[in-house]
Amino acid sequence: MDSIRITGGRALSGAIPISGAKNSAIKLMAAALLTDEKVVLTNTPRLRDTRLLGELLVDLGMSVDDGTPGALTLHAPEITSTIAPYDRVRKMRATFNVLGPLLARVGRAEVSLPGGCAIGARPVDLHLDALTRMGAAIELSQGYVRAFAPAGLRGAQVNFPFVSVGATEHSMMAAALAKGETVLENAAREPEIGDLADFLNSMGAKIEGAGTPTIRIQGVERLSGITHAVVPDRIEAGAYAIAAATAGGEVTLTGMNPAHLSALWPLLRQAGADVTLADTTATIARDPAARPQAVDLETQPYPGFPTDLQAPFMAMMCIADGASIVRETIFENRFMHASELMRMGARIDVKGREAVVRGVATLRGAPVMATDLRASVSLVIAGLAAEGETQISRVYHLDRGFERLEEKLSGAGAAIRRVNDGGDGSEEAAA
Ligand code: UD1
Repeated sequence: MDSIRITGGRALSGAIPISGAKNSAIKLMAAALLTDEKVVLTNTPRLRDTRLLGELLVDLGMSVDDGTPGALTLHAPEITSTIAPYDRVRKMRATFNVLGPLLARVGRAEVSLPGGCAIGARPVDLHLDALTRMGAAIELSQGYVRAFAPAGLRGAQVNFPFVSVGATEHSMMAAALAKGETVLENAAREPEIGDLADFLNSMGAKIEGAGTPTIRIQGVERLSGITHAVVPDRIEAGAYAIAAATAGGEVTLTGMNPAHLSALWPLLRQAGADVTLADTTATIARDPAARPQAVDLETQPYPGFPTDLQAPFMAMMCIADGASIVRETIFENRFMHASELMRMGARIDVKGREAVVRGVATLRGAPVMATDLRASVSLVIAGLAAEGETQISRVYHLDRGFERLEEKLSGAGAAIRRVNDGGDGSEEAAA
């Protein structure tokens, strides 16, 4: 199995290109099931998650061609299977998102429940409730969701009790081909929702209001093939921005959308970084000789501070001057990185959904273990700032969501490399 070795204490400098968003690409890939025509996604990241979803889509009858770098050509002229088995879904939760598109296109689907995962229970009740309102008959048995809509889905009023990115996206995909109007209230507003709406609208869907709490979808009879560029990955960009602010130096992130990180920039500035934004770039600079300042943080649905950047920001707070309170409001149990950061000398007290981080002058490199995707990048960030060598094991978590991480960071001056310690780790379940 691979591990990542980092020799810390070097300032970063140079440019880091930002890839297309994993969280958008995987929804767009699932949405390509909605048409029998060819869909080309450009700016697609090459990641473990896109590969795993691609394998499932092939099982369902789609051809998936990733021969051209950055582009993915998807074509499902016919759906040949409507089953997403446990072994696929357990490795990547977002494979669950094929349920709605299959139901909308062929009126039935059998998809394994994703089950619990390392960052909390993460149920799918809101997804199933929305599909039921759209007329699907849903049975849960033996760990599978069996859903039927032989006469097609119909438009419905869906009021989400709280904001869910996945349930909003799932409902949009299903409603695109339903009969009549669907209204989603208290919808998520993440940029990936806007990207999905743009994608579906170019295919011929009628979706209004994406990016606001109310989304209206007029169902259409069919959708056609298109070429679409995946939105830049704001979480990858945010993680590298925090890495630059933690290690010090000056880094320019390219090919990104700074407007999608409006909750991050003020906090980085408060922590002592200079942040210069342009249309598609952000430059983050911080004097490596001075410690960052402690800043409090609370995660919120977009446009608030993203939960996916909570762990990276906590890594920076570990070496801050002062104490920082980090409050997680989206997921329970999303502080697993705290105990690994403490192995590197961090002082963190976790109480329920709140962590108090008391900054120390120096972290020390140590063997640590990645526990989930976003937690693992926090260990990379801590490793960049630490004295000595950090070894991160279970890097298949990083490979789910960070394209060419070692290459991008070493291009900006980091001493980081991947070491193969034997085995490929492919049997490990992903969080
Ligand atoms: C997506 C992102 C993930 C990000 C999260 C929040 C993808 C692939 N993943 O996850 O990176 O951290 O948004 O920004 O896009 N919930 C329920 N019932 C449901 C659905 C959700 O109780 O049916 C709860 C979840 O357990 C969680 C909260 O709602 O506590 C928000 O989850 P949600 O926004 O749905 O996150 P995901 O779509 O799973």
